[in-house]
Amino acid sequence: MIYLRNGKIEVENEAFSLSPTDPGLLHGDGLFETVRVENRVPLFFAEHLKRLQESADFLSLPFPTLLSEPQVSDDLQRLLDETELSDAALRIVLTRGVETKGGEESPVVFMTVSPIPPELTGPELPILKLKTWRRCEHPGPPLGSHKFLGRLVYLLARKDVQREGADEAILLDRRGHLAEGSSFNLFWVKDGILFTPPLDMGILEGVTRSAVLLAASEESIPCQEVRSHLVAILGADEVFMTSSVREILPVSEVDEMKPRAGAPGPITRRLVKRYQSGKVCRT
Ligand SMILES: Cc1ncc(COP(=O)(O)O)c(C=O)c1O
Repeated sequence: MIYLRNGKIEVENEAFSLSPTDPGLLHGDGLFETVRVENRVPLFFAEHLKRLQESADFLSLPFPTLLSEPQVSDDLQRLLDETELSDAALRIVLTRGVETKGGEESPVVFMTVSPIPPELTGPELPILKLKTWRRCEHPGPPLGSHKFLGRLVYLLARKDVQREGADEAILLDRRGHLAEGSSFNLFWVKDGILFTPPLDMGILEGVTRSAVLLAASEESIPCQEVRSHLVAILGADEVFMTSSVREILPVSEVDEMKPRAGAPGPITRRLVKRYQSGKVCRT
């Protein structure tokens, strides 16, 4: 894999050096963003960089100038040239880095691009089966609101449910309320109303979640952000998930219960259409 480290193109296995004492590696002390790139244009770029900056402030992580929008934009174009990709998933990683002898922080920035899986670029949307996961609760506020590197809970959740034949996991809070997925925000529709868990549960304020809420208001679809128990989604007419690279994907099963209006249902289709036309002007 070709990647950028601190602004320099490098090739995997050649001259790779991340300090074994980097707190990003040792403790997950760092952040990341994943951005969908279409025709060399990073979608919702400003929103991703803003979230990264706000989370860096929260963790008191220095925010290097390498992460300014023009610099990341230039670096992305260099990476796309090197990899000959025009559609890609861009991953930006910021680790705290090892302090210099003089006690100065020296954060490390990585950028990688990888191809978007072909099933996520065709006209037919892949359809997912979800399973609730109960081994641990959702991290909740404040950590759950940030894309920090330490993602063991989310990783475990996905691996566990995949062993049981599902595609992705739904995490619950300690009271059993629906929180979010292992790497996505969750939506469902009941009687024409769109529902999603509220941000004060300490879930990630997904860039796609915000775009879908905007699409719903443009489509005059009523929407409620509510704390709900599992039963709400099990009796839903439609269920879908959102994330930057996968955008909006319909869900055909939650814990083996099927949404009544199928997958994708009519409201999901309207939102996908609105989102797809809106994202072009909101890059
Ligand atoms: C836990 C979690 N929730 C939600 C999302 C969706 O966020 P976004 O739409 O900004 O990609 C992600 C994306 O990686 C995630 O990891």
